[in-house]
Amino acid sequence: MAVRLFEARHHAVLYQKYRFSPSENLQSLIFSYLEEKKVDPIRLAVDVGCGSGQSTRILAAHFEKVVGTDISEAQIEAAKQAASFPNVSYHVCPAEELPFEDGSVDFITAFAAAHWFDMPRFMKEVDRVLRPHGCVALSTYTTDFSMHYKDCSERLTEIFTETRDLLLEYADEKIKLVFAEYKEVFESVPCQDKRRVTQILDKIPMSVSGVIGLFQSFSMYQAFLRSDPEAAKSLLQKTEQRFLDTMGVCSNETQVEIRKRSVCVLDCKGRRMENPAMTQ
Ligand SMILES: C[S@@+](CC[C@H](N)C(=O)[O-])C[C@H]1O[C@@H](n2cnc3c(N)ncnc32)[C@H](O)[C@@H]1O
Repeated sequence: MAVRLFEARHHAVLYQKYRFSPSENLQSLIFSYLEEKKVDPIRLAVDVGCGSGQSTRILAAHFEKVVGTDISEAQIEAAKQAASFPNVSYHVCPAEELPFEDGSVDFITAFAAAHWFDMPRFMKEVDRVLRPHGCVALSTYTTDFSMHYKDCSERLTEIFTETRDLLLEYADEKIKLVFAEYKEVFESVPCQDKRRVTQILDKIPMSVSGVIGLFQSFSMYQAFLRSDPEAAKSLLQKTEQRFLDTMGVCSNETQVEIRKRSVCVLDCKGRRMENPAMTQ
């Protein structure tokens, strides 16, 4: 069954402001896979669960046409309002019912979204709309973020992890798929030429207030906020103060570095496994 946790307009705004685009390393993994699989012509790419469009826009330079789809009207509204490209459009629809003809799509992506879908129904839909030898890439970032600033990185990472762990109480069951680093998502991909790459690392500079905004954008924080607004706000206020005290600074605009890891499941419809060693 589809889980709908991204419907509120304020959540979509937080998403647009604080969520990062897929990293350079993740992008280069995906585009080299497409090159290797010779996805040509590269007419139509569909980014399913596109949220506010960060993940959709990175496809614009590589395809004639890119469509971002999402079940949340608020997210699609935020996506439409952001600066974009003429070949990118957006559509409200469930991942399990994509509005494309059979065999008409060259490439399907879902960034930080596939774990929310009804996987068996979604994979059936992927199989229907992908053309033969079309590809799919389902990725997410893992939960082991670290936070870096001068010589207090270890302590900052501990504080970050403590806050994340407190929020986990409000996490939907589906987050387990992320904790399992998409092993089940990998298993649900039916084709034979599939890969699961787990060591896609990247570093993101952001301000301390950006880190707090990132927490606010998590669906588990939004669930906490609905259940106990005062406690939720207080947790993030305290977290921010603990970061600043540890760093010995006053301004929440002080820059830190977040290091994170992504995993990506890749597949190409109708291809036989050519290089099983690539699966990690
Ligand atoms: C964590 S956000 C990821 C957004 C974006 N891809 C990114 O990289 O930032 C997950 C998105 O999946 C969408 N979503 C969840 N279940 C869905 C479903 N069954 N069909 C389509 N979209 C869905 C949510 O509305 C949300 O916008």
